[in-house]
Amino acid sequence: MTTSIRAHITGTGAYLPEKIVTNDDLAKTVETSDEWIRQRTGIRARHVAGKGETTSEMATRAALEALEQAGVSGAEIDAIVLATTTPDQTFPATAVTVQDRIGMGDRGFAFDVQAVCSGFVYALAVADNFIRTGQVRRALVIGADHFTSLLDWNDRTTCVLFGDGAAAVVLEARENSDGGILSTHLHSQGAYRDLLYVDGGPSSTGTTGHVRMNGQEVFRHAVTRMSEAVNEALQKNGLEAADIDWLIPHQANRRIIESTAKKLKMPIEKVILTVEKHGNTSAASIPLALYEAVRDGRIQKNDLLLMEAMGGGLTWGSALVRW
Ligand code: UT7
Repeated sequence: MTTSIRAHITGTGAYLPEKIVTNDDLAKTVETSDEWIRQRTGIRARHVAGKGETTSEMATRAALEALEQAGVSGAEIDAIVLATTTPDQTFPATAVTVQDRIGMGDRGFAFDVQAVCSGFVYALAVADNFIRTGQVRRALVIGADHFTSLLDWNDRTTCVLFGDGAAAVVLEARENSDGGILSTHLHSQGAYRDLLYVDGGPSSTGTTGHVRMNGQEVFRHAVTRMSEAVNEALQKNGLEAADIDWLIPHQANRRIIESTAKKLKMPIEKVILTVEKHGNTSAASIPLALYEAVRDGRIQKNDLLLMEAMGGGLTWGSALVRW
């Protein structure tokens, strides 16, 4: 008889850089204002990585906390799937640095996933599938981005939106379970890759490049695609929006999140919001929000969580989790 294996989140960890940059700080260097940024995005401040706070450093700190909370040692982890758009180096993958630093030695494997702001949902889906097929028993899924290193600090249309950070979850296999990750849903549409991109890279310019975005168009797609991703997850599992205890959206813009919640007729009190304090931390935004709501006790055993994201690519997706 085949037994169903489900991946359960058994630990969470996070790391935010020490330095906090407020809207007023940014208004000293570009033509913007606290009022404009708050009204259009809901952002008040963001953390910006300083010297030594590389993507691997932030990811390692988040991973170590998640391991501690799960009561699992690095030597017991079979795989690391790390979502990032801002690796320490073009190669090797940032995940292998974390593998070394958490004491996995030569056990298992570690690699990066690149789906920009949808990265965490993508990484979670990849690790979930390894666990469901029985190839991996314990995995670390990390979202880590040093996104401010991609910013053109003279471009007010992008530099006010992003921040840095990392967060991690430990996934563990459980047999005959009807909880844990219930389903994941991934999508992309490359025809829209020019709406949000970095104007550099190894095989094109040989430079790192800066973020460029058609904000209004991305906004429009974000509301549509994130609602679709939510509905797909609900339909697949025979659930309704009212069954969701917590919506954990990618934190790009409070207005996008509010529009998505409105479409789902979901009260904003059921939405985990961190965009005000973190800005858009790309792959780190969903696990950072999850971490905060787990730590402050909002998320309780058996709660139904729906994570959803949209980012450059365009990429989008969702993950439904019974806590
Ligand atoms: O994580 C991946 C997904 N990314 C997103 O989801 C981001 C999606 N897009 C957005 O969040 C919004 O489109 C933005 C926050 C980027 C922009 O908000 P908006 O309401 O779409 O503003 P807009 O681009 O239509 O700009 C309105 C005005 C423009 O001036 P004019 O042309 O009306 O004179 C902009 O030049 O606001 C101006 N503006 C600013 N003013 C002060 C743009 N950026 C700023 C700024 N400060 N930082």
